[in-house]
Amino acid sequence: MRHLISLKEQSADDFREILALAATLKKKYRAGESTDFLHGKTLLMFFQKGSTRTRISFEAGMTELGGHAIYLEAAKTQFMFADLRDELRAMMRFGDVFMFRALDVADVLTAASFNRIPVIDACSEKYHPCQALADILTMSEHSGGLDKIKKIAWLGIENNVSNTLTLACAKLGIEVAIAAPEVDADSIDTELNAMASATGNVKKTLDLKEALAGAQYVHTDTWMNAEFFENGKPKPQFKDEYDRRKAVFMPYQLNVALIDTYVPEAGIMHCMPMHVGYEISRDAIEHKNSVIFDQAENRKHVEKAILLWLLEKKV
Ligand code: CP
Repeated sequence: MRHLISLKEQSADDFREILALAATLKKKYRAGESTDFLHGKTLLMFFQKGSTRTRISFEAGMTELGGHAIYLEAAKTQFMFADLRDELRAMMRFGDVFMFRALDVADVLTAASFNRIPVIDACSEKYHPCQALADILTMSEHSGGLDKIKKIAWLGIENNVSNTLTLACAKLGIEVAIAAPEVDADSIDTELNAMASATGNVKKTLDLKEALAGAQYVHTDTWMNAEFFENGKPKPQFKDEYDRRKAVFMPYQLNVALIDTYVPEAGIMHCMPMHVGYEISRDAIEHKNSVIFDQAENRKHVEKAILLWLLEKKV
């Protein structure tokens, strides 16, 4: 049975297959053709954390595939007091694919271990495989093909999103330069790091000039926690950490001055949600090189392909 969790299990050919399928589905959608390939199928979507894009993209994607998506929020279910394993085992009797945005990836792995239906990690503390594949689809479209992407750069913090993006790119032969002064401790997966590093395609440096040299796309993600703020201002109890992070990460902000200085042709990317004025500036979001909203849209096209790939459905 196929699952999509860390991308450690998938090969470059698997990625190519999913991406080609996503491109086909997107073309069909744009042409107004039916993509009714999952008629009668149900996607179970279980969220232990909030979401905008993941919920909407999977739900809309499943509608377009002719199936149905059920949205479950942890706080509104019996998961709050019952044994998680039992609830997962019961829930998985009602659908064909289980999409899980979990607080702890160990629970995603537990769900997959039942091998009842395919499981998708929809952003745990360690991985975000759907985002990685949507990002690669976006870069491929803007570069005129997957084989045209040679180098990307990641700025800011190493985290769940950078983990899966780095691994997928590295397996596909794309060079990844990471300029990140800190790593989110919860996201660390030494096996994934070793696998990505073994490809010879990953370079870590704090020198922005070196990281950005030749990069066709520059990615970043949030490094300031939402809970630090109230009415747009830092809460007094988090002021020290807020100030510390600003000092550490601001030199790695993705902004137009940085792009103009080092890589004027590079695409500007962010997985969203964005913390404007921190990891990314408003001028970068609105810049002609920004492909951020294409990136958001591509979540749906890639997730449709992932659903078909997991269910081994041919188009
Ligand atoms: N990028 C992403 O996963 O967005 P959401 O958290 O809104 O789902």
